[in-house]
Amino acid sequence: MAGGHERIETNLGLMLVLVLIVISFGGLITITPLFFQTNLLKPVDGLEPYGALELEGRDIYIREGCYTCHSQMVRPFRAETERYGHYSVAGEYIYDRPFQWGSKRTGPDLQRVGGRYSDEWHRVHLVNPRDVVPESIMPGYPWLEVNALDPAGVEGKMRTLRTLGHPYTDEQIQQAPGLLEGKTEMDAMVAYLQSLGTHVKIRR
Ligand code: HEC
Repeated sequence: MAGGHERIETNLGLMLVLVLIVISFGGLITITPLFFQTNLLKPVDGLEPYGALELEGRDIYIREGCYTCHSQMVRPFRAETERYGHYSVAGEYIYDRPFQWGSKRTGPDLQRVGGRYSDEWHRVHLVNPRDVVPESIMPGYPWLEVNALDPAGVEGKMRTLRTLGHPYTDEQIQQAPGLLEGKTEMDAMVAYLQSLGTHVKIRR
Protein backbone atom coordinates (compact mmCIF):
# COMPACT_ATOMS: atom_id res chain seq x y z
CA MET A 1 0.00 0.00 0.00
CA ALA A 2 1.61 3.25 -1.18
CA GLY A 3 0.07 5.31 1.62
CA GLY A 4 1.78 3.27 4.36
CA HIS A 5 5.16 3.70 2.80
CA GLU A 6 4.71 7.41 2.43
CA ARG A 7 3.83 7.67 6.09
CA ILE A 8 7.14 6.07 7.06
CA GLU A 9 9.21 8.15 4.63
CA THR A 10 7.73 11.43 5.75
CA ASN A 11 7.88 10.70 9.49
CA LEU A 12 11.48 10.89 10.64
CA GLY A 13 10.77 9.57 14.14
CA LEU A 14 8.90 6.51 12.87
CA MET A 15 11.57 5.81 10.24
CA LEU A 16 14.32 6.03 12.89
CA VAL A 17 12.55 3.52 15.14
CA LEU A 18 11.99 1.08 12.28
CA VAL A 19 15.59 1.41 11.06
CA LEU A 20 16.86 0.66 14.57
CA ILE A 21 14.66 -2.44 14.79
CA VAL A 22 15.97 -3.73 11.46
CA ILE A 23 19.62 -3.07 12.39
CA SER A 24 19.30 -4.72 15.80
CA PHE A 25 18.13 -7.92 14.10
CA GLY A 26 21.44 -8.03 12.23
CA GLY A 27 23.34 -7.48 15.46
CA LEU A 28 21.43 -10.18 17.31
CA ILE A 29 21.98 -12.69 14.54
CA THR A 30 25.76 -12.18 14.61
CA ILE A 31 26.20 -11.90 18.40
CA THR A 32 23.67 -14.29 19.98
CA PRO A 33 25.11 -17.58 18.63
CA LEU A 34 28.48 -16.73 20.23
CA PHE A 35 26.90 -16.98 23.68
CA PHE A 36 26.05 -20.60 22.99
CA GLN A 37 29.38 -21.69 21.51
CA THR A 38 30.82 -23.27 24.61
CA ASN A 39 34.06 -24.24 22.84
CA LEU A 40 34.99 -20.53 22.86
CA LEU A 41 34.82 -20.54 26.65
CA LYS A 42 36.81 -23.72 27.24
CA PRO A 43 40.57 -23.63 27.77
CA VAL A 44 42.62 -25.55 25.20
CA ASP A 45 44.04 -28.89 26.41
CA GLY A 46 46.92 -28.44 28.79
CA LEU A 47 46.34 -24.73 29.40
CA GLU A 48 47.27 -23.70 32.95
CA PRO A 49 46.70 -20.33 34.57
CA TYR A 50 49.88 -18.25 34.85
CA GLY A 51 52.17 -19.17 37.75
CA ALA A 52 53.04 -16.47 40.32
CA LEU A 53 56.23 -15.35 38.55
CA GLU A 54 54.60 -15.28 35.10
CA LEU A 55 51.63 -13.38 36.48
CA GLU A 56 53.98 -10.67 37.79
CA GLY A 57 55.78 -10.62 34.44
CA ARG A 58 52.50 -10.13 32.66
CA ASP A 59 51.65 -7.12 34.84
CA ILE A 60 55.06 -5.61 34.06
CA TYR A 61 54.45 -6.26 30.33
CA ILE A 62 51.26 -4.20 30.65
CA ARG A 63 52.91 -1.51 32.82
CA GLU A 64 55.74 -1.02 30.32
CA GLY A 65 53.32 -0.81 27.40
CA CYS A 66 54.89 -3.64 25.40
CA TYR A 67 51.46 -4.13 23.79
CA THR A 68 51.77 -0.79 22.01
CA CYS A 69 54.32 -2.41 19.66
CA HIS A 70 53.58 -6.14 20.00
CA SER A 71 50.42 -8.09 19.28
CA GLN A 72 49.64 -11.50 20.77
CA MET A 73 47.45 -12.96 18.10
CA VAL A 74 48.55 -15.04 15.14
CA ARG A 75 45.97 -14.70 12.38
CA PRO A 76 44.98 -17.73 10.29
CA PHE A 77 46.93 -16.74 7.16
CA ARG A 78 49.76 -18.64 5.53
CA ALA A 79 52.23 -15.76 5.90
CA GLU A 80 51.53 -15.59 9.64
CA THR A 81 51.54 -19.29 10.44
CA GLU A 82 54.80 -19.79 8.48
CA ARG A 83 56.43 -17.07 10.53
CA TYR A 84 54.94 -17.47 13.99
CA GLY A 85 53.44 -20.96 14.19
CA HIS A 86 49.91 -22.21 14.74
CA TYR A 87 47.24 -19.51 14.49
CA SER A 88 45.70 -18.40 17.78
CA VAL A 89 42.51 -20.01 19.06
CA ALA A 90 39.98 -18.56 21.53
CA GLY A 91 40.65 -21.20 24.21
CA GLU A 92 44.24 -19.98 24.65
CA TYR A 93 43.14 -16.65 26.13
CA ILE A 94 40.85 -17.95 28.89
CA TYR A 95 43.36 -16.95 31.59
CA ASP A 96 44.33 -13.60 30.03
CA ARG A 97 42.59 -10.79 31.83
CA PRO A 98 42.70 -8.50 30.00
CA PHE A 99 43.93 -10.24 26.85
CA GLN A 100 46.97 -8.73 25.12
CA TRP A 101 45.89 -9.09 21.49
CA GLY A 102 47.12 -5.59 20.72
CA SER A 103 46.30 -3.74 17.55
CA LYS A 104 49.72 -2.66 16.31
CA ARG A 105 52.82 -4.51 15.22
CA THR A 106 55.89 -2.33 15.26
CA GLY A 107 57.67 -5.45 16.47
CA PRO A 108 56.78 -9.09 15.78
CA ASP A 109 53.80 -10.93 17.24
CA LEU A 110 54.70 -12.51 20.60
CA GLN A 111 51.91 -15.07 20.99
CA ARG A 112 54.29 -17.97 20.22
CA VAL A 113 57.61 -16.51 21.37
CA GLY A 114 57.87 -18.93 24.34
CA GLY A 115 60.80 -21.30 23.89
CA ARG A 116 62.06 -19.58 20.71
CA TYR A 117 65.06 -17.96 22.45
CA SER A 118 67.06 -18.75 25.57
CA ASP A 119 66.42 -16.92 28.85
CA GLU A 120 69.82 -15.32 28.43
CA TRP A 121 68.90 -13.98 24.97
CA HIS A 122 65.81 -12.31 26.45
CA ARG A 123 67.81 -10.76 29.29
CA VAL A 124 70.37 -9.22 26.94
CA HIS A 125 67.64 -8.19 24.48
CA LEU A 126 65.48 -6.48 27.11
CA VAL A 127 68.39 -4.51 28.58
CA ASN A 128 69.57 -3.31 25.16
CA PRO A 129 67.93 -4.89 22.08
CA ARG A 130 70.77 -3.69 19.81
CA ASP A 131 73.23 -6.02 21.55
CA VAL A 132 71.53 -8.98 19.83
CA VAL A 133 69.59 -7.36 16.96
CA PRO A 134 71.79 -4.49 15.70
CA GLU A 135 69.05 -2.89 13.56
CA SER A 136 66.40 -3.04 16.33
CA ILE A 137 64.34 0.05 17.15
CA MET A 138 62.91 -1.46 20.34
CA PRO A 139 63.71 0.58 23.47
CA GLY A 140 65.81 -0.98 26.26
CA TYR A 141 64.36 -1.74 29.69
CA PRO A 142 67.50 -1.92 31.88
CA TRP A 143 65.61 -1.19 35.11
CA LEU A 144 63.89 -4.59 34.95
CA GLU A 145 67.16 -6.14 36.01
CA VAL A 146 67.53 -3.82 38.99
CA ASN A 147 63.97 -3.66 40.34
CA ALA A 148 63.13 -6.37 42.88
CA LEU A 149 59.68 -7.93 42.83
CA ASP A 150 57.33 -7.09 45.67
CA PRO A 151 55.79 -10.38 46.89
CA ALA A 152 53.10 -8.52 48.89
CA GLY A 153 50.30 -8.30 46.34
CA VAL A 154 50.44 -11.62 44.55
CA GLU A 155 48.24 -13.66 46.89
CA GLY A 156 45.42 -11.13 46.59
CA LYS A 157 45.80 -11.07 42.82
CA MET A 158 45.54 -14.85 42.56
CA ARG A 159 42.55 -14.95 44.90
CA THR A 160 40.76 -12.37 42.78
CA LEU A 161 41.50 -14.33 39.61
CA ARG A 162 40.21 -17.47 41.30
CA THR A 163 36.82 -15.82 41.82
CA LEU A 164 36.77 -15.31 38.03
CA GLY A 165 37.41 -18.99 37.37
CA HIS A 166 41.22 -19.39 37.28
CA PRO A 167 41.72 -22.76 39.00
CA TYR A 168 44.42 -21.85 41.54
CA THR A 169 44.66 -24.15 44.54
CA ASP A 170 45.07 -22.84 48.12
CA GLU A 171 48.55 -24.32 48.10
CA GLN A 172 49.56 -22.46 44.93
CA ILE A 173 48.33 -19.21 46.41
CA GLN A 174 50.16 -19.76 49.70
CA GLN A 175 53.39 -20.62 47.93
CA ALA A 176 53.21 -17.64 45.57
CA PRO A 177 55.01 -14.99 47.69
CA GLY A 178 57.87 -17.44 48.33
CA LEU A 179 58.32 -17.92 44.59
CA LEU A 180 58.83 -14.18 44.11
CA GLU A 181 61.32 -13.83 46.97
CA GLY A 182 64.69 -12.52 45.78
CA LYS A 183 63.53 -12.32 42.13
CA THR A 184 63.82 -9.29 39.87
CA GLU A 185 61.31 -7.86 37.42
CA MET A 186 63.56 -9.27 34.68
CA ASP A 187 63.10 -12.82 36.05
CA ALA A 188 59.33 -12.32 35.95
CA MET A 189 59.31 -10.86 32.44
CA VAL A 190 61.47 -13.65 31.03
CA ALA A 191 59.30 -16.31 32.72
CA TYR A 192 56.20 -14.69 31.21
CA LEU A 193 57.68 -14.45 27.70
CA GLN A 194 58.86 -18.06 27.84
CA SER A 195 55.35 -19.23 28.77
CA LEU A 196 53.66 -17.53 25.82
CA GLY A 197 51.84 -19.71 23.33
CA THR A 198 53.45 -22.97 24.32
CA HIS A 199 50.13 -24.73 24.95
CA VAL A 200 49.01 -25.31 21.40
CA LYS A 201 51.04 -27.91 19.56
CA ILE A 202 52.31 -26.51 16.30
CA ARG A 203 50.91 -28.37 13.30
CA ARG A 204 52.82 -27.79 10.12
C1 HEC B 1 58.71 0.92 20.11
C2 HEC B 1 58.18 -0.40 19.86
C3 HEC B 1 58.52 -1.52 20.83
C4 HEC B 1 58.23 -1.61 22.16
C5 HEC B 1 57.56 -0.58 23.06
C6 HEC B 1 58.64 -2.93 22.58
N1 HEC B 1 59.16 -3.61 21.52
FE1 HEC B 1 59.79 -5.54 21.51
N2 HEC B 1 60.35 -5.37 19.57
C7 HEC B 1 60.20 -4.25 18.78
C8 HEC B 1 60.84 -4.48 17.49
C9 HEC B 1 60.89 -3.49 16.34
C10 HEC B 1 61.35 -5.80 17.53
C11 HEC B 1 62.15 -6.52 16.40
C12 HEC B 1 63.65 -6.26 16.56
C13 HEC B 1 64.21 -6.92 17.80
O1 HEC B 1 64.18 -8.17 17.89
O2 HEC B 1 64.66 -6.21 18.70
C14 HEC B 1 61.04 -6.33 18.84
C15 HEC B 1 61.35 -7.62 19.25
C16 HEC B 1 60.95 -8.18 20.45
C17 HEC B 1 61.15 -9.57 20.82
C18 HEC B 1 61.72 -10.66 19.93
C19 HEC B 1 60.59 -11.27 19.13
C20 HEC B 1 61.00 -12.23 18.06
O3 HEC B 1 60.17 -13.10 17.72
O4 HEC B 1 62.12 -12.14 17.57
C21 HEC B 1 60.66 -9.71 22.09
C22 HEC B 1 60.62 -10.98 22.92
C23 HEC B 1 60.18 -8.41 22.52
N3 HEC B 1 60.37 -7.51 21.50
C24 HEC B 1 59.65 -8.14 23.78
C25 HEC B 1 59.26 -6.88 24.20
C26 HEC B 1 58.84 -6.59 25.55
C27 HEC B 1 58.73 -7.60 26.67
C28 HEC B 1 58.53 -5.25 25.59
C29 HEC B 1 58.12 -4.43 26.77
C30 HEC B 1 59.00 -4.48 27.93
C31 HEC B 1 58.76 -4.72 24.24
N4 HEC B 1 59.19 -5.73 23.44
C32 HEC B 1 58.52 -3.40 23.87
C33 HEC B 1 59.55 -3.10 19.14
C34 HEC B 1 59.11 -2.79 20.42
